[in-house]
This record gives sequence, C-alpha cells and structure tokens, in this order.
Amino acid sequence: MTSRGAGAMKILGLLGSPRAGNSETLFNAFAKEAKKAGAQVQSIWLKSKNFAPCAACDGCSKTGECIVKDDFQQIASAIDKSDVLVLATPVHFGGPSAHMTTFFSRCQSLWVRKYVLEKKGRRKKAKRAGILIVTSYEKNPDYIKCVKQMSKYIFNSLDFTPLATFWFANLDKPRDASSQPKLLEKMRGFGKLVAQKRWKKLKW
Ligand SMILES: Cc1cc2nc3c(=O)[nH]c(=O)nc-3n(C[C@H](O)[C@H](O)[C@H](O)COP(=O)(O)O)c2cc1C
Repeated sequence: MTSRGAGAMKILGLLGSPRAGNSETLFNAFAKEAKKAGAQVQSIWLKSKNFAPCAACDGCSKTGECIVKDDFQQIASAIDKSDVLVLATPVHFGGPSAHMTTFFSRCQSLWVRKYVLEKKGRRKKAKRAGILIVTSYEKNPDYIKCVKQMSKYIFNSLDFTPLATFWFANLDKPRDASSQPKLLEKMRGFGKLVAQKRWKKLKW
C-alpha cells in the first residue's frame, strides 16, 4: 500500500482469481498508473484470506455486523475506507470465481446495513465508484453477463456507483495478458483516467 497524502483518492482492488494470472496482471497495470497519477492503491488477494461463505444465519439483521468473525471484517473495513472499489475476477463457468462469489455472499451484512437499517440515511454513493475487471477465454459476451449483474448488485449494496467494466477475452494461460503490451497499455490508460476522475469517458 502506498500513502500519497490524506486527500489522495483511495483505490481498493479485490483480486478474485485463484492464481497469479490475467486479472491480477491487468489490475496491476491499472494500479501502477493510478499510483503515478497520485492515487493510494491497496489490493487484497481473496485467496490469501480466510473467510467462509454467508451462513444465512440472520445474525447481522439487527446490527448490520456479521457475527462470523474471520478475515471478512478486515476486507469490509478496507472497503469502507475506499473511494474506488475494483473487483478483478476471471469468468468461471459463466460467473465470478469461487473466491469472489464467496466474498459476494458475505456482503449480506453490508446489504442489511444499507437497505434494512439505514434506509433513511444512506451514504451518498455518487462520489464512490465501482470498477469491474473481468477476464475470460470465450469472446461471447453471454459469459460475462452474470459477472456484471452480480457486481452491479454488490456495488449498489456497498454504495459505489457502477462506473466501468473492463472485459478482456481470449485469455487462457496465466501469462497471456502480460505478453500483450496493448492490453497493459489500455489498463494503464484506464488507471490514469480513474485516478484523475475523468470518469465520464468510462462506460459500465
Ligand atoms: C474453473 C474454470 C472455469 C472457467 N470457465 C470459463 C467460462 O465459463 N467462460 C470463459 O470464457 N472462460 C472460462 N475460464 C477461463 C478463464 O476465465 C480465463 O482463462 C481467464 O483469463 C483466467 O483469468 P485469471 O488468469 O485471472 O485466472 C475458466 C477457467 C477455469 C479455471
């Protein structure tokens, strides 16, 4: 994590792949340029964290706090502090990776916090942006539909405006993205745009 001053834009990347592969490579290219443009960037590799899926126990219904104590609390705290949330995931069987899906399910307590407990006092999401980086092998956009839809629900529940989807297909082996300078250049460009808040140029 780099510190670029108290007023710096805080970008948090949640990396959902089980391997050091394409989605991570593309996020890193994005992050490097965003840092150069003055943003403070942190990333969390979900695989390295210890958290269970939502148990649907309803334990969060009165407080908005998950009663299962594991690494989810640490991730939720980082999310609360961030201005931009980046979800980077490969497509696995037409959906997000298992690690990302498990994380999504644990956002139930944050959904309760927003939609059940804070109905009247929702935080302004207009200033917080959600970005999806998704990698796949297939070029057919049907494969990313579910990833986009789930990510949109998550961004809305966590008070981030869904801002942009960066989808890259035709990627198979873990080093495929890193051997394509054009893709990396594209992500560096996006990193700069986001850090400079030139958000109108981006499309969900
Ligand atoms: C378990 C598994 C399921 C996959 N399912 C799909 C799929 O449904 N559609 C697709 O286009 N690619 C699928 N892929 C390919 C990955 O999405 C693709 O290789 C991606 O670039 C991997 O990104 P990563 O290196 O960040 O993990 C699958 C890969 C794995 C390991």
